[in-house]
Amino acid sequence: MGDLPTDSGGSDRKSPVKLPIAGKRNILITSALPYVNNVPHLGNIIGCVLSADVFARYCRLRGYNAIYMCGTDEYGTATETKALEENCTPKQICDKYHAIHKQVYDWFNISFDEFGRTSTPQQTEVCQAIFKKLMENHWLSENTMQQLYCDTCERFLADRLVEGICPTPGCNYDSARGDQCEKCGKLLNPTELQDPRCKVCRNTPRIRDTNHLFLELPLLKDKLVEYINSMSVAGTWSQNAIQATNAWLKEGLKQRCITRDLKWGVPVPHERFMDKVFYVWFDAPIGYVSITSCYTSEWEKWWKNPENVELYQFMGKDNVPFHTVMFPSTLLGTGENWTLMKTISVTEYLNYEAGKFSKSKGVGVFGNDAKDTNIPVEVSDTLFTWADLQAKLNSELLANLGNFINRVLSFIAKDPGWSSGCLNGVVI
Ligand code: MF3
Ligand code: ZN
Repeated sequence: MGDLPTDSGGSDRKSPVKLPIAGKRNILITSALPYVNNVPHLGNIIGCVLSADVFARYCRLRGYNAIYMCGTDEYGTATETKALEENCTPKQICDKYHAIHKQVYDWFNISFDEFGRTSTPQQTEVCQAIFKKLMENHWLSENTMQQLYCDTCERFLADRLVEGICPTPGCNYDSARGDQCEKCGKLLNPTELQDPRCKVCRNTPRIRDTNHLFLELPLLKDKLVEYINSMSVAGTWSQNAIQATNAWLKEGLKQRCITRDLKWGVPVPHERFMDKVFYVWFDAPIGYVSITSCYTSEWEKWWKNPENVELYQFMGKDNVPFHTVMFPSTLLGTGENWTLMKTISVTEYLNYEAGKFSKSKGVGVFGNDAKDTNIPVEVSDTLFTWADLQAKLNSELLANLGNFINRVLSFIAKDPGWSSGCLNGVVI
């Protein structure tokens, strides 16, 4: 009874659509949706995708019924800014970069069941439906904020679109960004900048009131803590995930603004917020759901079926609170029976030489560079040498892999309880 594949933005699917099967382990796997507005770098590939791919392949080999969903995260300021830079529309940026992402992952032969995108009608539908439930259940409140507005450009300026003098005593850097001073590192509020300027037209913006909607995390806290406690037990959440989550809880949950004065996003279906869109971190995780709905119209069998589906999510460590606090709170607030994350696997950053990979600064090895090296994914006949094979066998296979297996096995032998534990947060 499998669906006929629907066209969902370029995935050329060969295998039939998989739906949960009663009595089987049904495993829903996601890796963080990479921001579309750049070329993926090896940090993304390792951080978000590679471990999930290994896990997905492992599940399939074990005969579990597993699907692996991913795609590009397309909305928000970053895309709008990039469009300004490249002198085209946000949609054109997304189309261009989505194709680049897809090619890179295809080249790495990542076994996605669907590699979709967030700027789809499906995303709008799922996102607005979730929002309406949150509204009905009174988990949203309204608040006025002050934000810088550029009269020339006729729009509110995203934090990064404002520049000015850093207010930190002794710094005085004159091109500090609205969100952070790159010289002294201090996190800023754009209204704190001295002599602020609009980055686009260089005029001085003014402070203007704007109304926004907030998710009442403090009111959802009990439900959330109950979920966290039930799921993070027995080591199914990695230590770094538990730590990051506890840090958020300890600081005290605050109301989180879920709307923005932007154009490129999911429109807010509320009469007083018609000209606003959802904050990208509100809609992005919903992308997992909408991408699944592009994969199959019966997506609810995966996403509203916690009794029969296990959700495994893979991401870099800066994404943790969005997946352990924000997204579960959003889903819990709907009062519907969502499949919530059971296991989280978190990758620490991949560093490049002495520093961090940075897409915005162009530091690192990018997916397309790897592709352009023409180094084949698998060692081909032409590269084969006996000396190389000997070196690989001795150092990598024997010393590294052999040592690894030996350590794992003796570790398990010493403490058999551990074998039901986890490997980088993944229960095996
Ligand atoms: N785009 C974000 C990043 O690259 C990750 C989004 S994960 C999602 O850090 F779940 F929210 F989509
Ligand atoms: Zn301006």
